[in-house]
Amino acid sequence: METIWTKGIEAPVYPKLMNDISADALVIGGGMAGILCAKRLTDAGIDCVVLEADRVGRGITSGTTAVISAQHSVLYSDLISLFGRELAKGYLDSNLKAVRELSELAWGVDCDFEMRPSLMYSPHSKARMECEAAAVQSLGFHAEFTSGAPLGISSAGGVLFPDMAQFHPLKFLMSVAKGVKIYEHSPVLSVKNMSARTDSGSVTARNIIIASHFPFIDRRGLYFMKMRQKRESVVAVENIPPLRCTAVEDAEKGFFFRSIGNVTLIGCGNHDPGHEEDDFSKIALFLKNHAPEAREVCRWVNQDCFTLDEVPYIGRYYPASTNIFVATGFNAWGMTTSMVAADILTDAILGCENTYAKVFSPDRKMLAMPLLENSLHSAANLLTPTLPRCTHLGCALKYNKREHTWDCPCHGSRFADDGSVITGPAVKDLNIKS
Ligand code: FES
Repeated sequence: METIWTKGIEAPVYPKLMNDISADALVIGGGMAGILCAKRLTDAGIDCVVLEADRVGRGITSGTTAVISAQHSVLYSDLISLFGRELAKGYLDSNLKAVRELSELAWGVDCDFEMRPSLMYSPHSKARMECEAAAVQSLGFHAEFTSGAPLGISSAGGVLFPDMAQFHPLKFLMSVAKGVKIYEHSPVLSVKNMSARTDSGSVTARNIIIASHFPFIDRRGLYFMKMRQKRESVVAVENIPPLRCTAVEDAEKGFFFRSIGNVTLIGCGNHDPGHEEDDFSKIALFLKNHAPEAREVCRWVNQDCFTLDEVPYIGRYYPASTNIFVATGFNAWGMTTSMVAADILTDAILGCENTYAKVFSPDRKMLAMPLLENSLHSAANLLTPTLPRCTHLGCALKYNKREHTWDCPCHGSRFADDGSVITGPAVKDLNIKS
């Protein structure tokens, strides 16, 4: 995927796994979460190996807006009412700690790191923004209620988190990955008896972290039932005044913004794979109304994993697992929560207690109604009789004319025109002729 971040980047090339090896820890997935986990483990003296299906950072990490913030949409008032103050505070504090840790790692590194406040604004509801600001303040963080929004957008009110940040995700990742043992072009086909098999070798490890965007071991954990993937479109433009904060609109398919140098990213979306919507026309209309002088630099579509209760899954892969872990479901806030995952999972493997582990535990009880809705959504696509069928659990695929891919509406697997897997949970290529 070509994005603003991949332009002009010459990334180091890592070898493909070509034999059977062993390690203390294996991380599956070379995106932000996987590399941060591996970095932490390597620095702690653990013999750690990363297996990346394609190139390091060239999956979801390269499509992100790379905002570092503990403000994850309008979240904290929801968390307090759904789960109580203790969990909400744990979520906030763990993410604030992650912001500090990422900032420390980024200082002194050539990764365009900048402190930036983050803003959530609502076009319609001042009361909702006031409620969220009060919820965050009650948890001990100095969020501010504000009336502004970027690019002259009309706003009923907003919540500002000061002292947040942004960076260039690939430059940062390349720096963090130094000293980490990585194999690229090594997609894992199966995990059995603590051994991960690729088509040209295997890694046997005492601990395994699955940080492959969408977890692919189905018989345990049932992540395909308790997660959804959503897609959003981003356009990078120049010739408009750079923004002084990162910003997100509080709406189901709202806009989001950040600037890097003289380029500004404008995105919107949040729809199921296989149900393409013309987000680019929506962004073009926005630019016509708010920044008609803008010139497009590039555009892309990204895909994020969403949990059913707004909290990522970080911890044991399934309740009885002692040495298989997962980091997924970052709800489109993957930079900061990747650092949270690295903290929690490194502590788990080193046998250290982590105050925030229970907040993100994948063992938690699922909310009944979203679970039912998610299951019905998948069942409807499973019963659709058209060909071809997804190699994950057999749902009917839909052809995405704009990107020339086969997309699965059930759990979000995507396949290239030649049938090769682009995005999991599918691990097996599609036989296009079947
Ligand atoms: Fe699960 Fe296609 S991704 S059936």
